[in-house]
Amino acid sequence: MDALIPILNKLQDVFNTVGSESIQLPQIVVVGSQSAGKSSVLENIVGRDFLPRGVGIVTRRPLTLQLVYTPPEDKLVQCQSLGMSAPDENEFAVFTHIKGKIYTDFNEVRQEIEAETDRLGGKKNISNEPITLKIYSPKVVTLTLIDLPGLTKIPVDDQPLDIENQVRNLIMYYISNPNAIILAITPANVDFSTSEAVKFAKEVDPEGRRTLAVLTKLDLMDRGTDAYDVLCGRIIPVKLGIIGVVNRSQEDIHKKKSIEEALRYESAFHQKNYPSIASRNGTPFLAKTLNRLLMHHIRDCLPSLKTRINQMVSHFQALVNSFGEPIEDKGRLLLQIITKFASSYCATIEGTAKNIEVSELC
Ligand code: GDP
Ligand code: NA
Ligand code: MG
Repeated sequence: MDALIPILNKLQDVFNTVGSESIQLPQIVVVGSQSAGKSSVLENIVGRDFLPRGVGIVTRRPLTLQLVYTPPEDKLVQCQSLGMSAPDENEFAVFTHIKGKIYTDFNEVRQEIEAETDRLGGKKNISNEPITLKIYSPKVVTLTLIDLPGLTKIPVDDQPLDIENQVRNLIMYYISNPNAIILAITPANVDFSTSEAVKFAKEVDPEGRRTLAVLTKLDLMDRGTDAYDVLCGRIIPVKLGIIGVVNRSQEDIHKKKSIEEALRYESAFHQKNYPSIASRNGTPFLAKTLNRLLMHHIRDCLPSLKTRINQMVSHFQALVNSFGEPIEDKGRLLLQIITKFASSYCATIEGTAKNIEVSELC
């Protein structure tokens, strides 16, 4: 996302100058079956360890993750507006449901997401009510990512019988937003041609203009099989692309493998197993592709910005015109006013007192 930061900031200046709404970047929404790797993919995109991940329905409420670009010099003002004093760290987080607390330890952020998830609906049920987390950082672009519960077919334990419908409605709500970029996530160890994620995305985005497919768990495919055909779009084509990734396994999470280490492993994995298409796959390529989509979005916003600027120019031109003739020369203007005054003065005088010789006055 690094390349976007300076461009967005320049544009932001322009927007502020013309007093217009800022550019609304699309929301990035993940869709997929339970444990497909949705939270893992989002976390890799942000480059921070903070989302609860794991076996089963870990994500049971929508998580609205608002990234807020905050250079160190803006930290103080940003914290003041939150009514808090600034932390030493340049990267910090707040929850909208917790007033007066700034988080700088991202493990604590994860614990709070888990606790807040349980607060509504307990350990099994899902809830529509989003958790909103804001992350302030000099390393992000101002952007919203949404983590969602996964599609499930069969209720487990004491889950409500209509859980499938509940999740379905929840996902539909978020991906129907025309301003959402859908990351349709499918694990490589299930049949891609039956991908629920891709099916869902097609329902709201039949032309595939805002759907990007992600194939996770390439490392978990059966021996002797590979994902070449899927990744090359020969099974189901996805216009914006199908990108294969390798996230951290459950064991990696237990062992607290870092994101950097995981990225190195992923890169080596692609080089070894998919050498001919390695450059078109992997988490860095996914981030780059998202960047490109966001750039396109910004480019699409520019004509309306230009219209807005033109409107303002003509508005102010009209305002200037309403003050009279164009002002070229103050001296001449004064002369015009005096001449006008004098001639109307003469006319009035002539009209009311025809007898009086006023011609020399004019
Ligand atoms: P979600 O339910 O879709 O949000 O999936 P999570 O991100 O919580 O991941 C579910 C489980 O799959 C976790 O234990 C992850 O460690 C594991 N996982 C996710 N992606 C991969 C992957 O690419 N490879 C491996 N080996 N495990 C993965
Ligand atoms: Na999960
Ligand atoms: Mg999840």
